[in-house]
Amino acid sequence: MDYYKDILRVNLEKYVLIKDKVLREAVLYSLSSGGKRLRPVLTLAACHSVGGRLQKALPFACAIEMIHTYSLIHDDLPAMDDDNMRRGRPTNHIVHGEAIAILAGDSLLNGAYETMANYCLKRPLPKNIVAMATIAKAAGIMVEGQAKDITGVTTACELLQTQRQKTAALICAAVSAGAIVGGAMPKQVKYIAKAGACLGLAFQIKDDYIEETQTEQVLGKTKSDKKNNKNTYVTTFGKEKSREDMYILGNRALALLNKAGLKDRNLQKIFENILKL
Ligand code: IPE
Ligand code: IPE
Ligand code: MG
Ligand code: MG
Repeated sequence: MDYYKDILRVNLEKYVLIKDKVLREAVLYSLSSGGKRLRPVLTLAACHSVGGRLQKALPFACAIEMIHTYSLIHDDLPAMDDDNMRRGRPTNHIVHGEAIAILAGDSLLNGAYETMANYCLKRPLPKNIVAMATIAKAAGIMVEGQAKDITGVTTACELLQTQRQKTAALICAAVSAGAIVGGAMPKQVKYIAKAGACLGLAFQIKDDYIEETQTEQVLGKTKSDKKNNKNTYVTTFGKEKSREDMYILGNRALALLNKAGLKDRNLQKIFENILKL
């Protein structure tokens, strides 16, 4: 995991092309703060795991982290979750004001597509375009999930769909895109995508679980689910079942990765690491 994070540390900011000083500062404030980088690490590791060179996955990995970071900046706004702390520091709108925070999110989203499109222009291979389309689709699904999250979910079925959309879709796209640009066979992509979807849902369950069990200091973000009357996995199914389901989904994800016939166990280890409590 650290190996991939080091690559991202050196390369991520290179894809930020914004010149405006105020906007650039606001974008880098969130992008370069202490995110765990799970999604781009997954993209790089998935590419590696099917025998692809990391350079081929790097623009897509960085684009996904930009999309994720934009979603967090907007998610924290007063009109959404209204959170004051993120990644261990005050949220973007607290420091830069709401208007610039909204624009910083917009810039990151645009930057993500520009990054992928520029790479597709340089290497106009069908697999690169497929990877970009996969990420674009997931980014759209994520927004649909956030809309449901905001308007409120009541049934368990709605909750599952919301969590699959708002979180699992992008995580699934992160692993799938890495595998695709790495040159995976269609069958491998299928297994890896399914594994990513299981990991993604398990990850949102973990996020809901640790919101109940950890301090804001440890999480590096404010806890707003209760204040916002959010139905989460924990409020819907209870703590015990949340842990159980996370475990079941994690194992399902690992079994699917085993079927994909990967080069080594590196991606498996990263999955395990992400779900560790
Ligand atoms: C937080 O994601 C938002 C969710 C989808 C649960 P992360 O926990 O990956 O946030 P960072 O990137 O490490 O800040
Ligand atoms: C995040 O869900 C979903 C996004 C797509 C940003 P949460 O609202 O639970 O994420 P946190 O807890 O604010 O990180
Ligand atoms: Mg939130
Ligand atoms: Mg949360």
